[in-house]
Amino acid sequence: MRTSIIKFREMKQKGEKITMLTTYDYSTAMILEEVGIPLILVGDSLGMTMLGYETPIPVTMEDMLMHVKAVVRGTKNAHIVGDMPFMTYHVSVEQAVANAGRFLQEGGCQSIKLEGGVTVAEKIRRIVDSGIPVCGHIGLTPQSINQLGGYRIQGRNKDAAMKVIRDAEAVEQAGAYAVVLETVPAPLSALISKRLSIPTIGIGAGVGCDGQVQVIHDILGLYPNFVPKHAKQYANVHDVEKNAIAGYFNEVKAGTFPADANSFPLDAAVMSEIEQELKK
Ligand code: KIV
Repeated sequence: MRTSIIKFREMKQKGEKITMLTTYDYSTAMILEEVGIPLILVGDSLGMTMLGYETPIPVTMEDMLMHVKAVVRGTKNAHIVGDMPFMTYHVSVEQAVANAGRFLQEGGCQSIKLEGGVTVAEKIRRIVDSGIPVCGHIGLTPQSINQLGGYRIQGRNKDAAMKVIRDAEAVEQAGAYAVVLETVPAPLSALISKRLSIPTIGIGAGVGCDGQVQVIHDILGLYPNFVPKHAKQYANVHDVEKNAIAGYFNEVKAGTFPADANSFPLDAAVMSEIEQELKK
């Protein structure tokens, strides 16, 4: 049985920190499962990390479902969250419920995440009423980047902070089981985390949140020249991969790969028969 949303509320009550991490493919998902990451987000950040877009805006339901299915296949215990892409829940409540349903029915994940607070509360309520757990996402919401005018810290003055607080409350009241707080000043996130009974999961929101989420490419160091302020590189996988690929490239060119150990022998007698046959 996969980790359920009940567990995350219990973890908050016990003061146990919740670790969430994005991932997008089968083999990496298996590593997260081995480590015991309980909450995996198949984020629409895959638009940038896996598909090379500049923003998550072009990501489609089909892109998301393909990656969600791969991550589900690579895990047994983790709770998998599918991120609803831009314009797949904005048009109507009916559209939001139908697309949220596809994540569970076709993708096989356990819950969905969508961006927004007060303005999407009714949609969250109706999705939850359909039996689909929802994780909210407020503060900096990358799908609204054109509206927000860039990747800016949210809630820095009283009015902006009150908006983040009201959004958090609206998401909780609508029935979400958790809420991501993105790029929000640490004292404000700590205040919100105390006010809410559901867990807050921070990214660039300080240590006062009930849990943390990071984009896996940032913590693995897959982009060595760009580390967002909210992230920490725990490895330099870019260099590890580059050295391995260069090693392969050089050995193929030099004729030293494959070695005998990487090849399949053929019985000398069979080889001789083949040569006789070819001479006929
Ligand atoms: O898409 C994503 O990876 C996200 C996280 C940054 C929270 O929404």
